[in-house]
Amino acid sequence: MKAVGVIPAKREVALFQHAIPGLSTPTELKIRTLDVGICGTDREICSFAYGTPPDGSEFLVLGHEAVGEVVEVGSSVTKFKMGDLVVPTVRRPCPHPHCPSCRDARQDFCFTGDFTERGIKMTHGYMTEYFVEDQSHLNIVPRELRDVAVLVEPLTVAEKALAQVWQVQQRLPWNSPSAVESERGKGKTAVVLGAGPVGILGAMALVVNGFKTYVYSRSAEPNPKAALVNSIGAKYISSETTSPAEFAKMVGNIDLVYEAVGVAKISFDVMKVLGLNGIFVFTGIPPHKPAIDIEADSLMRQVVLMNQAIIGTVNADRPAFENAIRHLGIFKQRWPEALAKVITGRHPIENYRELLLGKATGIKNVITIGE
Ligand code: BGC
Ligand code: ZN
Repeated sequence: MKAVGVIPAKREVALFQHAIPGLSTPTELKIRTLDVGICGTDREICSFAYGTPPDGSEFLVLGHEAVGEVVEVGSSVTKFKMGDLVVPTVRRPCPHPHCPSCRDARQDFCFTGDFTERGIKMTHGYMTEYFVEDQSHLNIVPRELRDVAVLVEPLTVAEKALAQVWQVQQRLPWNSPSAVESERGKGKTAVVLGAGPVGILGAMALVVNGFKTYVYSRSAEPNPKAALVNSIGAKYISSETTSPAEFAKMVGNIDLVYEAVGVAKISFDVMKVLGLNGIFVFTGIPPHKPAIDIEADSLMRQVVLMNQAIIGTVNADRPAFENAIRHLGIFKQRWPEALAKVITGRHPIENYRELLLGKATGIKNVITIGE
């Protein structure tokens, strides 16, 4: 079968033939890949900044954002049947008995660093025709979400971030998150940094949670991303035309910043305008770049005197996948056109070079492998 991967030792990105995998335990399933999303992480791996093949293999099959269809079911599988539409998670637990997170299916908080990640770290990914996975790492997606299900994984970034925001902000004496989801962020202002797929999907989740939501991104208006953001009831503001200080004056107390841009300069500029009791969540993974100046003393004073929390988040657990699937259903009902526009291109696998090594264009580009 066809597979796209990297050979780090030769600094090669290639489309090659790979053996079709078979089931090796009774709780595994074989999945026929339908769509695979391309993201910044894949492009980084193709620049050989990171990405590690499995032990004993010179190549790593790419791809960690996938949707597929069950075509073979192990004899002890209880939760899935043939034809089910499924989205796999990314990270697999480390082997160490003393890692409390991995032993509790919370490998997103692995303590040893010896976890693996499909398509990223020591386990092959999904940019291929078939893959095999244990039922514990798969999530069922309703058929009506077939066309957008490839967005589940990028949306899990926001879902896991939001879950932590509610946990951290329980430190505030008056803040017990409402049971009604649309009321949870009521009266609070959220700022999304960046209008890529993780930013736009995050903005949708924040709007559904009742936040007054702004997306602060570079390009001046008008542009398609700004139009999309404004169409879901969030407000797009360009950093080219509005400085962070002017922006802060316009929006009032900023309760939450959801960073989805992966650039330090703009992130730390916006951190300066985080509000009282605010929380700033980093999700971007910037490449190594020359150092920048930040006013560290003034930032430190601000964080302390304003009771601020700054957290980083990586990888998503199963509940984040379940929430992402549920939210995609809500987004599709509420904003069918805007949601469809997040996917800006569908390509055959043969276009992998241009998608992984060419100029980044559009919002989410997808490789369609099966139908
Ligand atoms: C993936 C995460 C992963 C991270 C770091 C991201 O693109 O969505 O699941 O943990 O890269 O490897
Ligand atoms: Zn990704």
